[in-house]
Amino acid sequence: MPVDDSLPGARASTGSSSSRRPVVLDVDTGVDDACAILLAAAHPALDLRAVTCVGGNAPVDDVVANTLTVLDAAGRAEVPVARGADRPLLEPAAHARHVHGEDGMGDLDWPRSSRVPDPRHAVELLRDVLLSAAAAGESVTLVPLAPLTNIALLLRTYPLVANGIREILFMGGAVAVGNATASAEFNIFHDPEAAAMTLDAAAELAIPVTMYGLDVFYAPTVSRAEAAELVAAGGRGSAELGGRLIAFQCQRFDRPAATIGDAGAVCAVIDRDALTCERRPVRVELAGSWSRGRTIVDRREWSGDRAHDPHGPAPGVIDVALDVDAARFSRLWLDTVAGRLGS
Ligand code: RIB
Ligand code: CA
Repeated sequence: MPVDDSLPGARASTGSSSSRRPVVLDVDTGVDDACAILLAAAHPALDLRAVTCVGGNAPVDDVVANTLTVLDAAGRAEVPVARGADRPLLEPAAHARHVHGEDGMGDLDWPRSSRVPDPRHAVELLRDVLLSAAAAGESVTLVPLAPLTNIALLLRTYPLVANGIREILFMGGAVAVGNATASAEFNIFHDPEAAAMTLDAAAELAIPVTMYGLDVFYAPTVSRAEAAELVAAGGRGSAELGGRLIAFQCQRFDRPAATIGDAGAVCAVIDRDALTCERRPVRVELAGSWSRGRTIVDRREWSGDRAHDPHGPAPGVIDVALDVDAARFSRLWLDTVAGRLGS
C-alpha cells in the first residue's frame, strides 16, 4: 500500500507548507483535466509543482494552450507547463473532440492565455522537478490524467527519478467496464504500450501505483444547479470556469449532472480514505482484437500460482480503486473551486 493517508487539508482549509503534498499532474486538457487542475491549483493540502501535457483528448498544442488558460484562471501562472508527446508510442494520434469540444475544453470562448510553455520537453521538466525533490529530501505524488506516453518515456529514460516519486496515482483503466471500446478505457486504449511500460517500470523501480479507473471515475458528480452557482461567481476565476466546464458536460450529454472525472484522482490524493482499493496484479492487453488496451485486473485469490497459471504473476501489483465516497469527492471539489474550504 502506498504511504499515503488522508492529508490534513482534506476536510478543512488548514495545511501549512510543511504538510502540503508535492504533486505534479500530467494532462490532456480536456474538460475534466481542467477540473482536476483547478482543484490541484487551489487546495491548501497540495503543492502543485508542475503540469505536463500530452496529446489525448485534444492535440498536444491545444492541451498546452488549455492548460495555461486554466492555470491563469486559477491565479497560478507561476506553475510551469511543458509540452510532451504529441502521439502515442505506436498508435497514431486520435482525439476526443466529440466529448471535449473542438478546442478540447468545452468551446467556452474563455479568454486564452497569452503565455508560452516552459521550453523543456515534458519529460525533461518532469525529470528536473523529481530529481530536485529527491535532492531536497522530498517525494512527489505523480498524477497522470491522460495517456501514459510521457510517463513511460520518463521512467525508461530517467529511472533515477524514482527517488523523487512518492506514488503514481493515475486515472485510467478499469476492472469491469470500458468507454473508448467495450473493454478498454480511453487513456489506456490511446497508448496501451505506454501503459504497459509504465506498470512494468514502476514495478521494477518499486514505485507505488494506484489506479483510479472507470469503476469510480463516473461516481463523483456535480449538478447543473451547483454549476450555475459557480458560474454566478463570475470574474473569470476558478469558480466560474469550473461551473462552465460542468455545465458544458451536462448540456453535451443532456444530463442533470456531470462527473468531475479526472478531478476525482486529485481528490484521492487529498482524501485517500474516501477510496476503497484492493491490491491486485494488473496487466495491459496489447494484442487482443477486441480487448486491446484493457487493464486485466487479476482478482483471483490464488493469482500468481506459478505451477498452474500459464501466464505467471504480473510484474505490476498495484492498488486498484473499486469504490469511492462520491459525495465526499463532489463536495471536496465544489468547496475548493468555490473558495468555500473551511466554511
Ligand atoms: O476515460 C476517461 C479519461 O479519458 C479522462 O482522463 C478524460 O480526460 C479522457 O482523457
Ligand atoms: Ca484526461
